[in-house]
Amino acid sequence: MKIAVVKEQAAGERRVAATPETVKKFMALGADLAVEAGAGVTASIADADYITAGAAVADRAQTVAGADIILGVQGPAPDSLAGAKPGAWIVASLNPFGERERIDAYAAAGWEALAMEFMPRITRAQSMDILSSQSNLSGYKAVLDAAYEYGRAFPMMMTAAGTVSAAKVFVMGVGVAGLQAIATAKRLGAQVSATDVRAATKEQIESLGAKAIFVEHVAGIEGEGKGGYATEMSEEYKAAQAELVSGHIAKQDIVITTALIPGRPAPRLISDAQLATMKPGSIIVDLAVEQGGNVEGAVPGEVVERHGVRIVGHRNVPSRLAADTSALFSRNLYNFLSAFWDKEKNAPVLDEEIGSAIRLTQGGKVVNERLLG
Ligand code: NAI
Repeated sequence: MKIAVVKEQAAGERRVAATPETVKKFMALGADLAVEAGAGVTASIADADYITAGAAVADRAQTVAGADIILGVQGPAPDSLAGAKPGAWIVASLNPFGERERIDAYAAAGWEALAMEFMPRITRAQSMDILSSQSNLSGYKAVLDAAYEYGRAFPMMMTAAGTVSAAKVFVMGVGVAGLQAIATAKRLGAQVSATDVRAATKEQIESLGAKAIFVEHVAGIEGEGKGGYATEMSEEYKAAQAELVSGHIAKQDIVITTALIPGRPAPRLISDAQLATMKPGSIIVDLAVEQGGNVEGAVPGEVVERHGVRIVGHRNVPSRLAADTSALFSRNLYNFLSAFWDKEKNAPVLDEEIGSAIRLTQGGKVVNERLLG
């Protein structure tokens, strides 16, 4: 059983899919590990650390030659995997809806592509959930990015020269990233409020000491929503939400948006007209910018100014904390593969529930029902 860890090739991707810690753990299971030279450098891991952990460090071709499993953060380019075994698994965050051509190429090459972002949100898979582990740190970093752009302080400060008032932070979308953003903004001393469409989040917001701002009179999504996810809302709800947001954001200094709907473009939560009501010097961080953006005018990869408000649209926010996000991502991969490790076969054997959810290709075909529909 050979597990290959490839160096990420996508622009701006600084993470790596295995750390010396997970290399050691995979070896303890009975696997051989090969790591592409330089794979960990941008996540502060030297080749020598992988070697000390027991991995072979080599060039791309040698790393993937004869591999049974290839680990990546993003899906590796199919033509860079020549030499992997027929039927080899590619385990990564594969962006199945956005990178369909790449998925088709994996199928054509006879590889089995496993999309970690399709991991079901069930209790036993929590430790394998890359969306949660990466979103958590994105929520944290979004607040720091806002603080960096903001020309004022976060906490209230009473000084001999007078009082500095606390920043008002509004978090829109209270999933994993939003909850961490609330907690981080609170720790920095901001006055925090938050909103979501899922009713269950109200209590979560309040338990973090923030104010819940919710649409009244029009029903949102009961409880957690299906699988913890939101769906597209009715026109009536959207109108009520727009009115609520208009009244609230004009008084805010910082807005952090994190709202996503699986398999759909991100919902538009702030229009240009609403933006124009905010005070000059206010900051918006749009964590959904790569999925279409929650904020009108947000530009992926840029910080733009409109009506005196700066809109931060960093791409790949988890990559901005690559050492920590790599450690968590790598553990997610290890927790996943080790949970299914069959000692006799010295290979993982997936069960139906998780296998059918994450497997995109098998036997030369695309097999995942979310891609076939
Ligand atoms: P996500 O990244 O898909 O969405 C972020 C947030 O945006 C969600 O809370 C969603 O309700 C909200 N949203 C969507 N449309 C909106 C709109 N129009 N206005 C305002 N907010 C909107 O969600 P994420 O962070 O991946 O997780 C959501 C929930 O899933 C978690 O809070 C948790 O309850 C559950 N979960 C369960 C896990 C498990 O059991 N294994 C693991 C992780 C999360």
